[in-house]
Amino acid sequence: MNSAFITFEGIEGAGKSTLARWLAQRLQQERIDCWLTWEPWEPRLREVLLEHSDLRSEEELLLFIADRAIHTRHIRNALAEGKTVICDRYADSTLIYQGYGRGLDIAWVRQLNRFATGGLEPVRTYLLDLPVEVGLSRQQELNRIGAEELAFHQRVREGFLTEAEQNPRRFLVLDATRPLQALQEVIWQDVRSLL
Ligand code: TMP
Repeated sequence: MNSAFITFEGIEGAGKSTLARWLAQRLQQERIDCWLTWEPWEPRLREVLLEHSDLRSEEELLLFIADRAIHTRHIRNALAEGKTVICDRYADSTLIYQGYGRGLDIAWVRQLNRFATGGLEPVRTYLLDLPVEVGLSRQQELNRIGAEELAFHQRVREGFLTEAEQNPRRFLVLDATRPLQALQEVIWQDVRSLL
Protein backbone atom coordinates (compact mmCIF):
# COMPACT_ATOMS: atom_id res chain seq x y z
CA MET A 1 0.00 0.00 0.00
CA ASN A 2 1.45 3.40 -0.97
CA SER A 3 -0.88 5.69 0.89
CA ALA A 4 -3.23 5.06 3.76
CA PHE A 5 -5.93 6.86 5.65
CA ILE A 6 -5.35 6.53 9.40
CA THR A 7 -7.41 8.06 12.19
CA PHE A 8 -7.00 8.61 15.93
CA GLU A 9 -10.05 8.57 18.18
CA GLY A 10 -10.81 8.71 21.86
CA ILE A 11 -12.27 10.72 24.70
CA GLU A 12 -10.90 14.08 25.84
CA GLY A 13 -7.35 13.89 27.18
CA ALA A 14 -6.57 10.51 25.64
CA GLY A 15 -3.44 11.81 23.90
CA LYS A 16 -4.67 11.47 20.29
CA SER A 17 -3.25 14.73 19.07
CA THR A 18 0.21 14.07 20.56
CA LEU A 19 0.35 10.63 18.93
CA ALA A 20 -1.04 11.84 15.60
CA ARG A 21 1.64 14.55 15.48
CA TRP A 22 4.33 12.07 16.43
CA LEU A 23 3.22 9.60 13.75
CA ALA A 24 3.27 12.27 11.06
CA GLN A 25 6.83 13.24 12.05
CA ARG A 26 7.91 9.60 12.19
CA LEU A 27 6.56 8.98 8.69
CA GLN A 28 8.31 12.06 7.38
CA GLN A 29 11.59 10.75 8.84
CA GLU A 30 11.01 7.64 6.73
CA ARG A 31 10.37 9.91 3.73
CA ILE A 32 6.75 8.85 3.55
CA ASP A 33 4.69 11.73 2.27
CA CYS A 34 1.89 12.45 4.70
CA TRP A 35 -0.74 15.01 5.66
CA LEU A 36 -1.60 15.56 9.31
CA THR A 37 -5.10 16.90 9.73
CA TRP A 38 -7.98 17.01 12.24
CA GLU A 39 -11.68 17.59 12.74
CA PRO A 40 -13.57 19.80 13.13
CA TRP A 41 -11.49 21.07 10.24
CA GLU A 42 -12.82 24.26 8.70
CA PRO A 43 -11.65 27.00 11.11
CA ARG A 44 -14.91 28.98 11.16
CA LEU A 45 -17.01 25.87 11.68
CA ARG A 46 -14.59 24.70 14.35
CA GLU A 47 -15.05 27.94 16.21
CA VAL A 48 -18.84 27.73 16.08
CA LEU A 49 -18.83 24.08 17.10
CA LEU A 50 -16.39 24.33 19.95
CA GLU A 51 -17.09 27.81 21.26
CA HIS A 52 -20.66 28.64 20.35
CA SER A 53 -22.75 28.04 23.44
CA ASP A 54 -26.22 27.87 21.97
CA LEU A 55 -26.44 24.90 19.60
CA ARG A 56 -29.06 22.16 19.71
CA SER A 57 -27.79 18.59 19.29
CA GLU A 58 -29.31 18.33 15.81
CA GLU A 59 -27.67 21.60 14.73
CA GLU A 60 -24.34 20.47 16.13
CA LEU A 61 -24.65 17.18 14.20
CA LEU A 62 -25.38 18.93 10.90
CA LEU A 63 -22.42 21.28 11.31
CA PHE A 64 -20.04 18.37 12.02
CA ILE A 65 -21.41 16.63 8.93
CA ALA A 66 -20.98 19.73 6.78
CA ASP A 67 -17.42 20.12 8.04
CA ARG A 68 -16.72 16.45 7.22
CA ALA A 69 -18.10 16.76 3.69
CA ILE A 70 -15.69 19.63 2.96
CA HIS A 71 -12.77 17.94 4.71
CA THR A 72 -13.31 14.58 2.96
CA ARG A 73 -12.86 16.25 -0.41
CA HIS A 74 -9.38 17.37 0.67
CA ILE A 75 -8.56 13.98 2.19
CA ARG A 76 -9.52 12.24 -1.06
CA ASN A 77 -7.27 14.63 -3.00
CA ALA A 78 -4.34 13.98 -0.67
CA LEU A 79 -4.81 10.21 -0.95
CA ALA A 80 -5.03 10.47 -4.73
CA GLU A 81 -1.67 12.28 -4.67
CA GLY A 82 -0.22 9.27 -2.84
CA LYS A 83 -0.08 10.89 0.59
CA THR A 84 -0.77 9.03 3.80
CA VAL A 85 -3.41 10.97 5.71
CA ILE A 86 -3.32 11.04 9.50
CA CYS A 87 -6.53 12.47 10.90
CA ASP A 88 -7.18 13.43 14.51
CA ARG A 89 -10.90 12.45 14.78
CA TYR A 90 -13.18 11.60 11.86
CA ALA A 91 -16.63 10.06 11.31
CA ASP A 92 -16.45 7.84 14.41
CA SER A 93 -16.40 10.96 16.58
CA THR A 94 -19.77 12.07 15.21
CA LEU A 95 -21.28 8.63 15.56
CA ILE A 96 -20.08 8.42 19.14
CA TYR A 97 -20.41 11.98 20.47
CA GLN A 98 -23.64 12.94 18.71
CA GLY A 99 -25.10 9.42 18.58
CA TYR A 100 -24.08 7.66 21.78
CA GLY A 101 -23.26 10.86 23.71
CA ARG A 102 -26.10 13.23 22.74
CA GLY A 103 -28.55 10.38 22.17
CA LEU A 104 -29.39 11.20 18.55
CA ASP A 105 -30.62 8.33 16.39
CA ILE A 106 -27.59 6.13 15.63
CA ALA A 107 -28.90 4.87 12.26
CA TRP A 108 -29.54 8.46 11.19
CA VAL A 109 -26.03 9.56 12.23
CA ARG A 110 -24.52 6.64 10.30
CA GLN A 111 -26.50 7.64 7.22
CA LEU A 112 -25.36 11.26 7.43
CA ASN A 113 -21.76 10.12 7.89
CA ARG A 114 -22.04 7.99 4.73
CA PHE A 115 -23.46 11.00 2.90
CA ALA A 116 -20.59 13.26 4.05
CA THR A 117 -17.78 10.77 3.43
CA GLY A 118 -19.14 9.12 0.29
CA GLY A 119 -18.14 5.88 2.01
CA LEU A 120 -14.50 6.82 2.64
CA GLU A 121 -13.28 4.92 5.71
CA PRO A 122 -9.91 4.81 7.39
CA VAL A 123 -7.88 1.66 6.92
CA ARG A 124 -6.89 1.85 10.60
CA THR A 125 -8.33 3.67 13.61
CA TYR A 126 -6.31 3.88 16.80
CA LEU A 127 -8.72 4.15 19.70
CA LEU A 128 -6.98 5.52 22.77
CA ASP A 129 -8.98 4.30 25.70
CA LEU A 130 -8.72 5.41 29.31
CA PRO A 131 -10.98 6.15 32.30
CA VAL A 132 -12.98 9.32 31.77
CA GLU A 133 -11.80 10.91 35.02
CA VAL A 134 -8.16 10.40 34.03
CA GLY A 135 -8.70 11.88 30.56
CA LEU A 136 -10.58 14.92 31.82
CA SER A 137 -8.01 15.60 34.53
CA ARG A 138 -5.29 15.71 31.85
CA GLN A 139 -7.03 18.54 29.99
CA GLN A 140 -6.12 22.06 30.96
CA GLU A 141 -8.89 23.62 28.93
CA LEU A 142 -12.14 22.03 27.89
CA ASN A 143 -14.07 23.08 24.80
CA ARG A 144 -17.88 23.41 24.77
CA ILE A 145 -18.37 19.66 24.22
CA GLY A 146 -15.52 18.62 26.50
CA ALA A 147 -17.15 20.58 29.31
CA GLU A 148 -20.19 18.25 29.28
CA GLU A 149 -21.07 16.25 32.40
CA LEU A 150 -19.22 13.09 33.38
CA ALA A 151 -22.08 10.79 32.32
CA PHE A 152 -21.85 12.18 28.77
CA HIS A 153 -18.15 11.29 28.56
CA GLN A 154 -18.87 7.86 30.00
CA ARG A 155 -21.40 7.21 27.23
CA VAL A 156 -18.78 8.39 24.75
CA ARG A 157 -16.14 6.04 26.13
CA GLU A 158 -18.54 3.09 26.10
CA GLY A 159 -19.69 4.02 22.59
CA PHE A 160 -16.15 3.98 21.26
CA LEU A 161 -15.50 0.58 22.84
CA THR A 162 -18.74 -0.83 21.42
CA GLU A 163 -17.92 0.38 17.91
CA ALA A 164 -14.36 -0.95 18.19
CA GLU A 165 -15.68 -4.35 19.22
CA GLN A 166 -17.97 -4.38 16.20
CA ASN A 167 -15.16 -3.41 13.80
CA PRO A 168 -12.11 -5.35 15.01
CA ARG A 169 -10.41 -5.24 11.59
CA ARG A 170 -10.30 -1.45 11.48
CA PHE A 171 -9.91 -0.51 15.16
CA LEU A 172 -6.88 -1.06 17.32
CA VAL A 173 -7.74 -0.29 20.93
CA LEU A 174 -4.82 1.01 22.99
CA ASP A 175 -4.63 1.54 26.72
CA ALA A 176 -3.90 5.28 26.82
CA THR A 177 -2.64 5.13 30.41
CA ARG A 178 0.46 3.28 29.15
CA PRO A 179 3.67 5.29 28.72
CA LEU A 180 3.89 7.29 25.51
CA GLN A 181 6.86 5.35 24.24
CA ALA A 182 5.07 2.01 24.60
CA LEU A 183 2.11 3.37 22.63
CA GLN A 184 4.42 4.70 19.95
CA GLU A 185 6.07 1.31 19.57
CA VAL A 186 2.77 -0.53 19.11
CA ILE A 187 1.51 2.05 16.62
CA TRP A 188 4.73 2.07 14.63
CA GLN A 189 4.79 -1.73 14.33
CA ASP A 190 1.21 -1.64 13.13
CA VAL A 191 1.75 1.22 10.66
CA ARG A 192 4.72 -0.61 9.17
CA SER A 193 2.55 -3.64 8.59
CA LEU A 194 -0.07 -1.43 6.90
CA LEU A 195 2.32 0.45 4.63
P1 TMP B 1 -10.44 18.15 20.04
O1 TMP B 1 -9.88 19.01 18.97
O2 TMP B 1 -9.85 18.39 21.36
O3 TMP B 1 -10.49 16.71 19.66
O4 TMP B 1 -11.94 18.66 20.22
C1 TMP B 1 -12.94 18.36 19.37
C2 TMP B 1 -14.20 18.26 20.19
O5 TMP B 1 -15.31 18.09 19.33
C3 TMP B 1 -14.22 17.09 21.15
O6 TMP B 1 -14.91 17.47 22.33
C4 TMP B 1 -15.04 16.05 20.42
C5 TMP B 1 -16.00 16.89 19.63
N1 TMP B 1 -16.45 16.29 18.38
C6 TMP B 1 -17.77 15.87 18.27
O7 TMP B 1 -18.54 15.99 19.22
N2 TMP B 1 -18.18 15.33 17.09
C7 TMP B 1 -17.35 15.22 16.00
O8 TMP B 1 -17.77 14.74 14.95
C8 TMP B 1 -15.99 15.67 16.13
C9 TMP B 1 -15.06 15.57 14.96
C10 TMP B 1 -15.59 16.20 17.33
